[in-house]
Amino acid sequence: MTPQNTRRSAFVVPRSSNSPNAMLRDFHVHDCTLRHFCNLSISRLRTVLRWRNNPLIAQHMLNTKPIPLTKHLQFCKKLAGNCADAYWMALRDRRGLGVINLKHVDRQRRRAFLGMYANPRLIGSGIGGLLLQCIEHIAFTHLGLRELYLQVRRENSRARALYQKHGYVEVPSPEDRSSQDSPGTMITMCKRALHHPDE
Ligand SMILES: CC(C)(COP(=O)(O)OP(=O)(O)OC[C@H]1O[C@@H](n2cnc3c(N)ncnc32)[C@H](O)[C@@H]1OP(=O)(O)O)[C@@H](O)C(=O)NCCC(=O)NCCS
Repeated sequence: MTPQNTRRSAFVVPRSSNSPNAMLRDFHVHDCTLRHFCNLSISRLRTVLRWRNNPLIAQHMLNTKPIPLTKHLQFCKKLAGNCADAYWMALRDRRGLGVINLKHVDRQRRRAFLGMYANPRLIGSGIGGLLLQCIEHIAFTHLGLRELYLQVRRENSRARALYQKHGYVEVPSPEDRSSQDSPGTMITMCKRALHHPDE
Protein backbone atom coordinates (compact mmCIF):
# COMPACT_ATOMS: atom_id res chain seq x y z
CA MET A 1 0.00 0.00 0.00
CA THR A 2 1.29 3.43 -0.85
CA PRO A 3 1.12 5.77 2.13
CA GLN A 4 -0.96 8.81 1.16
CA ASN A 5 0.49 12.26 1.45
CA THR A 6 -1.86 13.58 4.10
CA ARG A 7 -0.50 17.03 4.87
CA ARG A 8 -4.13 17.82 5.55
CA SER A 9 -6.16 15.00 6.97
CA ALA A 10 -8.12 13.04 4.40
CA PHE A 11 -10.41 11.87 7.18
CA VAL A 12 -13.96 12.97 7.58
CA VAL A 13 -15.25 12.77 11.14
CA PRO A 14 -18.43 10.69 11.40
CA ARG A 15 -20.76 10.48 14.38
CA SER A 16 -18.63 9.22 17.24
CA SER A 17 -18.86 5.72 18.59
CA ASN A 18 -19.84 6.40 22.21
CA SER A 19 -19.57 3.01 23.83
CA PRO A 20 -17.16 3.30 26.81
CA ASN A 21 -15.15 0.30 25.62
CA ALA A 22 -15.26 1.20 21.92
CA MET A 23 -11.49 0.68 21.72
CA LEU A 24 -11.42 -2.80 23.23
CA ARG A 25 -11.62 -4.64 19.90
CA ASP A 26 -9.71 -5.54 16.78
CA PHE A 27 -9.83 -3.42 13.62
CA HIS A 28 -9.10 -4.00 9.96
CA VAL A 29 -7.54 -1.13 8.03
CA HIS A 30 -6.49 -1.65 4.42
CA ASP A 31 -4.82 -5.07 4.49
CA CYS A 32 -3.79 -4.82 8.15
CA THR A 33 -5.33 -6.45 11.18
CA LEU A 34 -5.01 -4.43 14.36
CA ARG A 35 -5.25 -6.88 17.24
CA HIS A 36 -5.94 -5.43 20.66
CA PHE A 37 -3.33 -6.55 23.20
CA CYS A 38 -6.13 -8.26 25.18
CA ASN A 39 -6.77 -10.50 22.17
CA LEU A 40 -3.14 -11.51 21.62
CA SER A 41 -1.63 -14.89 22.50
CA ILE A 42 1.20 -15.01 25.04
CA SER A 43 3.57 -15.73 22.18
CA ARG A 44 2.50 -12.52 20.37
CA LEU A 45 2.73 -10.56 23.64
CA ARG A 46 6.29 -11.82 24.02
CA THR A 47 7.04 -10.65 20.48
CA VAL A 48 5.82 -7.10 21.14
CA LEU A 49 7.84 -6.99 24.38
CA ARG A 50 10.94 -8.11 22.47
CA TRP A 51 10.38 -5.26 20.00
CA ARG A 52 9.73 -2.76 22.80
CA ASN A 53 12.95 -3.75 24.60
CA ASN A 54 15.07 -3.65 21.45
CA PRO A 55 17.51 -0.70 21.84
CA LEU A 56 16.46 0.60 18.39
CA ILE A 57 12.99 1.14 19.84
CA ALA A 58 13.65 1.66 23.57
CA GLN A 59 15.98 4.62 22.99
CA HIS A 60 13.02 6.60 21.60
CA MET A 61 10.54 5.77 24.35
CA LEU A 62 9.79 7.94 27.38
CA ASN A 63 10.94 5.06 29.60
CA THR A 64 14.13 3.79 27.97
CA LYS A 65 14.68 0.91 30.45
CA PRO A 66 13.89 -2.72 29.51
CA ILE A 67 10.48 -3.89 30.73
CA PRO A 68 10.37 -7.33 32.44
CA LEU A 69 7.91 -9.92 31.09
CA THR A 70 5.87 -10.12 34.33
CA LYS A 71 5.36 -6.35 34.34
CA HIS A 72 4.44 -6.38 30.64
CA LEU A 73 1.83 -9.12 31.14
CA GLN A 74 0.32 -7.32 34.15
CA PHE A 75 0.13 -4.14 32.09
CA CYS A 76 -1.59 -5.97 29.20
CA LYS A 77 -4.10 -7.62 31.54
CA LYS A 78 -5.08 -4.27 33.05
CA LEU A 79 -5.87 -2.90 29.59
CA ALA A 80 -9.06 -5.00 29.61
CA GLY A 81 -10.62 -2.59 32.10
CA ASN A 82 -9.13 0.57 30.65
CA CYS A 83 -11.39 2.89 28.65
CA ALA A 84 -8.74 5.57 28.12
CA ASP A 85 -5.72 3.64 26.85
CA ALA A 86 -5.48 0.93 24.18
CA TYR A 87 -2.67 -0.91 22.40
CA TRP A 88 -2.83 -2.93 19.19
CA MET A 89 -0.36 -5.12 17.33
CA ALA A 90 -0.51 -4.46 13.58
CA LEU A 91 -0.31 -7.62 11.45
CA ARG A 92 -0.33 -8.29 7.72
CA ASP A 93 -0.55 -11.88 6.53
CA ARG A 94 0.25 -12.93 10.12
CA ARG A 95 3.52 -10.97 10.03
CA GLY A 96 3.91 -8.48 12.87
CA LEU A 97 4.41 -4.93 11.55
CA GLY A 98 4.49 -2.92 14.75
CA VAL A 99 2.51 -1.57 17.68
CA ILE A 100 0.18 1.42 17.81
CA ASN A 101 -1.54 2.94 20.81
CA LEU A 102 -3.96 5.61 21.92
CA LYS A 103 -3.60 7.01 25.44
CA HIS A 104 -5.47 9.53 27.56
CA VAL A 105 -8.46 9.27 25.25
CA ASP A 106 -10.76 12.12 26.26
CA ARG A 107 -14.19 11.50 24.71
CA GLN A 108 -15.55 14.86 25.89
CA ARG A 109 -12.75 16.97 24.44
CA ARG A 110 -12.49 14.45 21.59
CA ARG A 111 -8.74 14.11 21.73
CA ALA A 112 -6.07 11.56 22.54
CA PHE A 113 -2.32 10.91 22.47
CA LEU A 114 -0.90 8.45 19.96
CA GLY A 115 2.19 6.28 20.10
CA MET A 116 3.80 3.68 17.88
CA TYR A 117 6.85 1.59 17.15
CA ALA A 118 7.71 -0.65 14.25
CA ASN A 119 8.93 -4.23 14.24
CA PRO A 120 12.66 -3.34 14.52
CA ARG A 121 13.36 -5.33 11.33
CA LEU A 122 11.06 -2.98 9.43
CA ILE A 123 12.47 0.35 10.62
CA GLY A 124 13.20 2.53 7.62
CA SER A 125 10.94 0.51 5.32
CA GLY A 126 8.18 3.11 5.15
CA ILE A 127 6.02 1.18 7.62
CA GLY A 128 5.59 4.32 9.76
CA GLY A 129 3.09 5.89 7.34
CA LEU A 130 0.93 2.76 7.38
CA LEU A 131 0.98 2.54 11.19
CA LEU A 132 0.00 6.20 11.37
CA GLN A 133 -2.93 5.68 8.98
CA CYS A 134 -4.11 2.79 11.17
CA ILE A 135 -4.08 4.95 14.31
CA GLU A 136 -5.87 7.79 12.53
CA HIS A 137 -8.54 5.40 11.29
CA ILE A 138 -9.33 4.28 14.84
CA ALA A 139 -9.11 7.77 16.32
CA PHE A 140 -10.78 9.94 13.68
CA THR A 141 -13.06 7.52 11.85
CA HIS A 142 -14.06 5.02 14.54
CA LEU A 143 -13.94 7.08 17.74
CA GLY A 144 -14.81 10.42 16.13
CA LEU A 145 -11.94 12.23 17.85
CA ARG A 146 -10.94 15.64 16.53
CA GLU A 147 -7.36 16.02 17.73
CA LEU A 148 -4.46 13.64 17.95
CA TYR A 149 -1.45 14.63 20.02
CA LEU A 150 1.89 12.92 20.40
CA GLN A 151 5.13 13.46 22.25
CA VAL A 152 8.39 12.72 20.50
CA ARG A 153 12.00 13.09 21.57
CA ARG A 154 13.58 16.17 20.03
CA GLU A 155 16.47 14.10 18.60
CA ASN A 156 14.14 11.50 17.02
CA SER A 157 14.45 13.05 13.56
CA ARG A 158 13.05 10.03 11.71
CA ALA A 159 9.77 10.01 13.65
CA ARG A 160 9.51 13.82 13.57
CA ALA A 161 9.93 13.82 9.78
CA LEU A 162 7.25 11.15 9.47
CA TYR A 163 4.74 13.04 11.62
CA GLN A 164 5.44 16.31 9.82
CA LYS A 165 4.90 14.66 6.45
CA HIS A 166 1.51 13.43 7.65
CA GLY A 167 0.30 16.84 8.78
CA TYR A 168 1.35 16.98 12.45
CA VAL A 169 2.57 20.35 13.67
CA GLU A 170 4.51 21.31 16.77
CA VAL A 171 2.30 22.79 19.50
CA PRO A 172 2.68 23.69 23.17
CA SER A 173 1.93 20.74 25.43
CA PRO A 174 -1.76 20.62 26.52
CA GLU A 175 -1.99 21.98 30.07
CA ASP A 176 -2.81 18.59 31.62
CA ARG A 177 -0.12 16.65 29.77
CA SER A 178 3.09 18.64 30.19
CA SER A 179 6.17 16.47 29.86
CA GLN A 180 7.43 14.93 33.07
CA ASP A 181 10.85 14.60 31.43
CA SER A 182 13.54 17.28 31.62
CA PRO A 183 12.37 20.45 29.86
CA GLY A 184 13.03 20.53 26.13
CA THR A 185 13.53 16.76 25.77
CA MET A 186 10.11 16.08 24.30
CA ILE A 187 8.23 17.92 21.58
CA THR A 188 4.43 17.86 21.41
CA MET A 189 2.80 17.64 17.98
CA CYS A 190 -0.86 17.71 16.98
CA LYS A 191 -3.11 17.00 14.01
CA ARG A 192 -6.76 18.00 13.71
CA ALA A 193 -9.32 15.96 11.79
CA LEU A 194 -11.48 17.56 9.16
CA HIS A 195 -15.01 18.13 10.45
CA HIS A 196 -17.96 16.31 9.02
CA PRO A 197 -19.98 18.68 6.79
CA ASP A 198 -23.20 17.81 8.73
CA GLU A 199 -21.78 18.83 12.10
C1 LIG B 1 8.75 5.82 14.02
C2 LIG B 1 8.77 4.59 13.11
C3 LIG B 1 7.51 3.77 13.34
C4 LIG B 1 8.78 5.11 11.66
O1 LIG B 1 8.79 4.03 10.78
P1 LIG B 1 9.91 3.99 9.59
O2 LIG B 1 9.55 2.88 8.68
O3 LIG B 1 11.23 3.92 10.24
O4 LIG B 1 9.76 5.40 8.94
P2 LIG B 1 9.18 5.78 7.52
O5 LIG B 1 10.15 5.28 6.52
O6 LIG B 1 7.75 5.36 7.43
O7 LIG B 1 9.19 7.37 7.58
C5 LIG B 1 10.27 8.08 8.07
C6 LIG B 1 10.50 9.30 7.20
O8 LIG B 1 11.57 10.01 7.75
C7 LIG B 1 12.64 10.06 6.83
N1 LIG B 1 13.86 9.90 7.58
C8 LIG B 1 14.49 8.77 7.87
N2 LIG B 1 15.56 9.02 8.64
C9 LIG B 1 15.58 10.34 8.83
C10 LIG B 1 16.44 11.21 9.51
N3 LIG B 1 17.48 10.76 10.21
N4 LIG B 1 16.15 12.52 9.52
C11 LIG B 1 15.06 13.00 8.84
N5 LIG B 1 14.22 12.21 8.17
C12 LIG B 1 14.49 10.89 8.16
C13 LIG B 1 12.41 8.93 5.88
O9 LIG B 1 13.06 9.20 4.66
C14 LIG B 1 10.91 8.93 5.78
O10 LIG B 1 10.44 9.96 4.95
P3 LIG B 1 9.94 9.64 3.44
O11 LIG B 1 8.73 8.77 3.58
O12 LIG B 1 9.63 10.99 2.89
O13 LIG B 1 11.08 8.96 2.77
C15 LIG B 1 10.03 3.69 13.33
O14 LIG B 1 11.20 4.36 12.89
C16 LIG B 1 10.21 3.28 14.77
O15 LIG B 1 9.60 2.34 15.23
N6 LIG B 1 11.09 3.99 15.49
C17 LIG B 1 11.39 3.68 16.86
C18 LIG B 1 10.24 4.01 17.78
C19 LIG B 1 9.81 5.46 17.63
O16 LIG B 1 10.60 6.34 17.38
N7 LIG B 1 8.50 5.67 17.81
C20 LIG B 1 7.93 7.00 17.76
C21 LIG B 1 8.00 7.59 19.11
S1 LIG B 1 7.16 9.16 19.17
